[in-house]
Amino acid sequence: MEKDQSFITDDVEKQGWTLLEKSIAYYQNRPVGTLAICSKSPNVLNFDYCFVRDFVPSALLFLIKGRYDIVRYFLEETLKLQPTEKQFDAYTPSKGLIPASFKIVSDNGEEHLEADFGEQAIARVTPVDSCLWWVIILHAYVKATKDINFALQPQFQQGISLIMELCLATRFDMYPTLLVPDGACMIYRRLGIYGYPIEIQTLFYAALRAARKLLICAGDEEIVIGIDNRLPLLRNHIREHYWIDINRLNKIHRFKVEEYGETAVNQFNIYADSVPYSDLSSWLPFNGGYLAGNVGPSQLDTRFFSLGNLMAIITSLTTEKQSQAIMNLIEEQWEDLVGQMPMKICFPALEKEEYRIFTGADPKNLPWSNHNGGNWPVLIWFLTAAAQKTGRSDIGKRAIELAQARLSEDEWPEYYDGTRGILIGKGARRYQTWTISGFLLAKELMRNPEHLELISFGEYDSDNTSLVCDL
Ligand code: GLC
Repeated sequence: MEKDQSFITDDVEKQGWTLLEKSIAYYQNRPVGTLAICSKSPNVLNFDYCFVRDFVPSALLFLIKGRYDIVRYFLEETLKLQPTEKQFDAYTPSKGLIPASFKIVSDNGEEHLEADFGEQAIARVTPVDSCLWWVIILHAYVKATKDINFALQPQFQQGISLIMELCLATRFDMYPTLLVPDGACMIYRRLGIYGYPIEIQTLFYAALRAARKLLICAGDEEIVIGIDNRLPLLRNHIREHYWIDINRLNKIHRFKVEEYGETAVNQFNIYADSVPYSDLSSWLPFNGGYLAGNVGPSQLDTRFFSLGNLMAIITSLTTEKQSQAIMNLIEEQWEDLVGQMPMKICFPALEKEEYRIFTGADPKNLPWSNHNGGNWPVLIWFLTAAAQKTGRSDIGKRAIELAQARLSEDEWPEYYDGTRGILIGKGARRYQTWTISGFLLAKELMRNPEHLELISFGEYDSDNTSLVCDL
């Protein structure tokens, strides 16, 4: 991986940095995160909230630039919001959760943080990804600062343990994956992704990897054993059952059904007719493949979800061969998956009857808009990171050129609409912070791929030691 000097700082980037500075939220005179959007228009819903998932690209950028304080305060303050007692009231957030977002509220000159665990969110969706991202950010912070003692503080060790307990809890199902309700991640509305969506599974894998590196036994042996047991099972399950390429499609197409017992090949009883085999076989290049959107009982959701697939590459959840195949697919089907703005949140969109059933006829998720097949510029940093990880920097370059040409002129929209991502999203907010930080981060990753270290993991079998040993 070579440093690329062609990414010189330009006006678009300078504007991005100025806006990002403006989005920094201060709590008791200390920077604690970035607000969801930079322009302070009072008419925008929850514009003054700091979302945990939205902060991720900002956090990585600040770490790259050595501005550790913002990330440190963010981690400290969000940790204080984590419930540490068992809750018996169904309406109170569970022990271990990290909120989707928080807001700085001023009461008679006294500031406090107001957290939203989904109890205020539209449709009351639960942010399962927040606690997973929180561990991933903590891990990146320790890697950047080399200050393992920060994570060794008892409250941090407890915070990680509580998240792990929640993820590894005794439960009803018997899959190594994490069972979640719809809208539990970046797609924060109903979109037929309840069950075992790929985005949550890859973040779960990354969080387990990060926690394994940060937890220093002492009383938590059970959790560490739990993580060690789960990691290979989860990885193998995803690599085998979520993977779709022409070979696999051939097998699925000829699956026997209603198999009972240990020898069953079609373990999830997938009915081949539920898979759009004809479209898929002409869309998939012979050297391409990807991870399915969701796998469950008689369910194989064949939609391509970008965040899950790209994070799988970044964290080595996929094999090297699979990672290359995903990048081949993106390259071959560029018009569909990237179009005019990197990149589609998922492909294809749900249309007609499927749209009505899966989204609940949601007018904000019309086909090829918003979460239902819209293009989200924030995803550019995941694409660039995956491109660098697989040695395909040309893909990152191509993506940045597209974003560079439009984002600033279009006032940094949240998302774009249409099959090719040409139209600015109908309901998209402008000056969306993670659009800005995602673009800036993509540029930093192109300039110096070593920054990838903050967020990436090597193959599990050869890299399961604690960070204390690594640093
Ligand atoms: C939307 C997105 C969600 C994001 C939030 C704030 O609800 O679905 O992923 O965190 O906006 O930007």
